[in-house]
Amino acid sequence: MNLQTDNRQYQSGFGNHFETEVLAGALPVGRNSPQKCAYGLYAEQFSGSAFTAPRESNRRSWLYRIRPSVITEDFVPVSHEGLSLSAEDVISSPNQMRWDPQSEPSTKTDFIEGLFAICGNGSVGPQMGVGIYSYAANSDMEGYFYNSDGEMLIVPQQGLLCICTEMGTLDVTPKEICVVPRGLKFQVALKDSDKFARGYVCENYGAPFELPNLGPIGANGLASARDFLTPVASYEDTIGEFALLNKFGGQLWHSALDHSPFNVVAWHGNYAPYKYDLSRFNTINSVSFDHCDPSIFTVLSSPSSRSGVANCDFAIFPPRWMVTEDTFRPPWFHRNIMSEFMGLIEGAYDAKAEGFVPGGASLHNTMSVHGPDAMTFERAINKDLEPEYLDKTMAFMFESNLTYSVSKKALKSPLRQTNYHQVWHGLKSHFDAKNTK
Ligand SMILES: [Fe+2]
Repeated sequence: MNLQTDNRQYQSGFGNHFETEVLAGALPVGRNSPQKCAYGLYAEQFSGSAFTAPRESNRRSWLYRIRPSVITEDFVPVSHEGLSLSAEDVISSPNQMRWDPQSEPSTKTDFIEGLFAICGNGSVGPQMGVGIYSYAANSDMEGYFYNSDGEMLIVPQQGLLCICTEMGTLDVTPKEICVVPRGLKFQVALKDSDKFARGYVCENYGAPFELPNLGPIGANGLASARDFLTPVASYEDTIGEFALLNKFGGQLWHSALDHSPFNVVAWHGNYAPYKYDLSRFNTINSVSFDHCDPSIFTVLSSPSSRSGVANCDFAIFPPRWMVTEDTFRPPWFHRNIMSEFMGLIEGAYDAKAEGFVPGGASLHNTMSVHGPDAMTFERAINKDLEPEYLDKTMAFMFESNLTYSVSKKALKSPLRQTNYHQVWHGLKSHFDAKNTK
């Protein structure tokens, strides 16, 4: 790849109207589609919302490119055994579930080939719900991919990803996340010398992720808009024979291109990929007693049509001080109408003594009760409550108001810990009718 690029690396902000051009004057002034574009470029609008969406949720960008994206062959369906979340390939289950991490593939596997559907909800057609995948890859993508079904929130757990898109390139490390908008063509290369990358993907069929409102927290806190980074334009003028993959209607499709789709010389607009460093998250929590609901850790939220109810919240559990007095500090026992998929990027999670390891995952569905395991509970009720810093930890949650169905492949996977429910079997009765404390 021989990319020519705008000499800035990134543009800062969330949902801004960005402007970037590799060649001076490539962006038209005062209009979007002049009769003839500079440098002989084609103008192409890339919309992420209905044309008539309210201004605050209207998303679109204008791309100025060497050839328009319309030049493809017919798409034909291709099989991808790990990708399906269609009705016949999933099961609804009330059981708490947990999985060990995927190991390195034994054969050459790129980012798309390495996607493995764990669970999902909602539906692509009505544009609500999410699909959740893990990925394990050991080679660079040679073709290009775009997802018509949803935007993709990529959470690397191991391995630096170079995510090259039509609108520019993002290098994304573990403890950073990246969101690729619905419809944007991209390619993933693995930058580490050992060529192994592993992580998680939330495919969001619903409203695009946005920053949550802060309410009484005020103008500052949680994720700050200025810490989100969007790429600058870069292009290559390359011809050849390339595969173009598309996920559409839950199915993978294949077409061919005779040129690189990374041929956008300039673009402007607010519909664009971005990345965010999770260590920039301003963590807020109780400084008196009890601990707050996990919504206090929300980085991004995809709203549903019901006020205050998320199609999907992306929340993290980062390093933080625990200072609360007379408080059971680990996450309490709970059951919830919301469904919780969790992953672990680094370290340990404070609700579990063992079994939930980096690269692994857990699922606690609607009203499936969960909480600390027996060992964590006993430790928490007996320990001295000094201020304590939870170090080297980064867990996250994709929390949804729709119940997750689990893929049959994930259910039958040897990585699933079928004895997971037994972590709570050691919780003994402490009841003593004569003891008030
Ligand atoms: Fe929970």
